[in-house]
Amino acid sequence: MEEELIQIKNSAVSLILDAKDKKELDDLKIRFLGRSGRLSLAIKELSKLPKEKRPEIGRLANEVKNTIEETISEKESRVTKQMSQELKEKIDTTIPGIRPLIGHLHPMTYVIYDVVDVFKGLGYQVADGPEIETDYYNFTALNMPPNAPSRDTQATLYLDTRNSKVKPGEILLRTQTSNMQVRIMEKTKPPVRVIVPGKTYRVDDVNASHSFEFWQVEGFMVDTSVSLKDLFGTLDYVLRKIMGENIKLKFATTNFPFVEPGVDTYIECTVCKGKGCTFCKMTGWSEIMPAGMIHPNVLKAAGYDPRKVSGFAFAIGLSRLVTLRYEMEDLRLLTNPDIRILEQF
Ligand code: DAH
Repeated sequence: MEEELIQIKNSAVSLILDAKDKKELDDLKIRFLGRSGRLSLAIKELSKLPKEKRPEIGRLANEVKNTIEETISEKESRVTKQMSQELKEKIDTTIPGIRPLIGHLHPMTYVIYDVVDVFKGLGYQVADGPEIETDYYNFTALNMPPNAPSRDTQATLYLDTRNSKVKPGEILLRTQTSNMQVRIMEKTKPPVRVIVPGKTYRVDDVNASHSFEFWQVEGFMVDTSVSLKDLFGTLDYVLRKIMGENIKLKFATTNFPFVEPGVDTYIECTVCKGKGCTFCKMTGWSEIMPAGMIHPNVLKAAGYDPRKVSGFAFAIGLSRLVTLRYEMEDLRLLTNPDIRILEQF
């Protein structure tokens, strides 16, 4: 046993000192010190020795192990040093490197951040929601029951439900971020003040000013005695913060099933300053933010009592804001991943 241990030590040390590279060293480490390596096998034999011999041979086995480990670690550091020396000779470290591309946020994200900042200042919370939505939250809960003609104004992309238990027409890509109104109200007691930036989808041809996917920020607040005045004040404040203090605004009534009354917000055309141009279709004004007082049926769907609380809702079309800010003539640029386009913002 003693001889065997010494023989293991000698052969390990000489092989280690002769090893040419890291790989060879790693193999030797396994061969001698591994669980089924030579030394471990020898140590297992210890138990067969007579009792009085065991401590002495045990000590020797330990010494052999330490010697092998030390020799390996010394040799390892020598081999590594040698490798880096060889690399240094091969590599010219004075050649300039390749500059990594440094990314930045997407122009749409910049605009969303700005809008969010303004609303946060007014105490609004920011919520996110599903883009794949049920018919209920996207339409029915918003006072657009099945067969409501108002649904036709939002050409809808439905999911293929043929291989599922869901009924056809029940699941869709949300057509509006208003889908979050009832979802949020159901879970929150008034007062609520929330904005929901997000992507929406409708059946549409893709061209310079239209797409099947677009971005909106829905916003709403509900509290006791919220009035139309609060809505006008909020829209006025927010649009001045986003578009500049000197803009001109006007409001007109309009129809949306989930608000009563409905309000269209117009901003004097920033391109022609109200004179009339192709951008504003010669009217001098651009529609920028539909809104209104939340319909009692929507409050009811959310479990609120319309006799006790009231609220307003509004939507900002984000594509319009982005095109105005970056003077972008084609909305398709917003979804084009070409780095040469994105680098320009
Ligand atoms: N969700 C509507 C749409 O996409 C826009 C809208 C109109 C939202 C009036 C509102 C609102 O919250 O009050 O066509």
